[in-house]
Amino acid sequence: QNKVGLVGWRGMVGSVLMQRMQEENDFSFIEPTFFTTSQKGLPAPDFAGKDCGVLEDASDIEALAAQEIIITCQGGDYTKDVYPKLREAGWQGYWIDAASALRMKDDAVIVLDPVNRGEIDKGLENGVKTYVGGNCTVSLMLMALGGLFEADLVEWATPMTYQAASGSGAKHMRELLSQMGAVHGNVKTLVEDPSTAILDIDRQVAEFIRSDDNPTEQFGVPLAGSLIPYIDTQLPSGQSREEWKAQAEANKILGTESAPIPVDGLCVRVGAMRCHSQAITLKLKKELSVEEIESLLAKHNDWVKVIPNDRDITMQELTPAKVTGTLSIPVGRIRKLTMGPEYISAFTVGDQLLWGAAEPLRRMLRILLG
Ligand code: HSE
Repeated sequence: QNKVGLVGWRGMVGSVLMQRMQEENDFSFIEPTFFTTSQKGLPAPDFAGKDCGVLEDASDIEALAAQEIIITCQGGDYTKDVYPKLREAGWQGYWIDAASALRMKDDAVIVLDPVNRGEIDKGLENGVKTYVGGNCTVSLMLMALGGLFEADLVEWATPMTYQAASGSGAKHMRELLSQMGAVHGNVKTLVEDPSTAILDIDRQVAEFIRSDDNPTEQFGVPLAGSLIPYIDTQLPSGQSREEWKAQAEANKILGTESAPIPVDGLCVRVGAMRCHSQAITLKLKKELSVEEIESLLAKHNDWVKVIPNDRDITMQELTPAKVTGTLSIPVGRIRKLTMGPEYISAFTVGDQLLWGAAEPLRRMLRILLG
């Protein structure tokens, strides 16, 4: 059995990864070692259902180098610190990473095997040893629209996102809930009394949301009852870093970097917990019927689910509330836009911690295990 080192298994993405690895019985195929940044020597967790000894130090290059495969969800700073040291020490093992630090390196492949198994296999044949999970919105978009990209039908795409609090981290999810509770708590008695005027309640809510009593330490500004039209850092291009990733990563995943497909839009944080949604406008290279588009999308992979453009079904099926905690990738609202017959709309929802983060990593592990 392959020796596999696990780093960052305690965090949010790491915890989802552990859960998925348990569900899919991955631990029965590996000899796992759990690493820690702070608790070396304590007993390893029992995810694997077998004795894994004690926790090893996540900065111990020798202990890491004893692994054939390392999977890390520890974050970009850890990768930037440890990865070069390991390679300099001559380590030839496979590095599977959730962080973005190495994603765009020439000697790394972004993994999303239902979309780019060919690129992964090419990487393996060429001796690539570094496999990195993609940005969540990019992976979720490609899982939903893979059928159109695979058939080389997309002239350009503009995804406008509705991204969940989890993309910012666990503390941000807590803060979203705290804000929701605080806003409601502030007007609870007024809301319950039907004789109160809604505009009075609204005024009081607006004042509270803007006030210092609203907990905004994590996001910096209100999210509940509002939204944040900027995600990640600011770039000279006018794009946010999150927006920049769409075209850069999508084309790297698809292996189309030499003639990149334009993919660009605005990324917005909304008050959802862990499902990212995206409204995407596409210009197709040729005119196709909605039925043809739906059929191409539906047969692309086992997780995408085409939702007919019907009001009731859409309201039931195409929402974060429905999708959260599942691997399902519904895509709907597919229709021709009035701009012309090649212009189509689509709306998709996906769990940002599953297909957006943990799932491609554990599937890469299984590819390596053969
Ligand atoms: N950057 C994403 C977000 C999450 O902020 O929603 C991780 O890819």
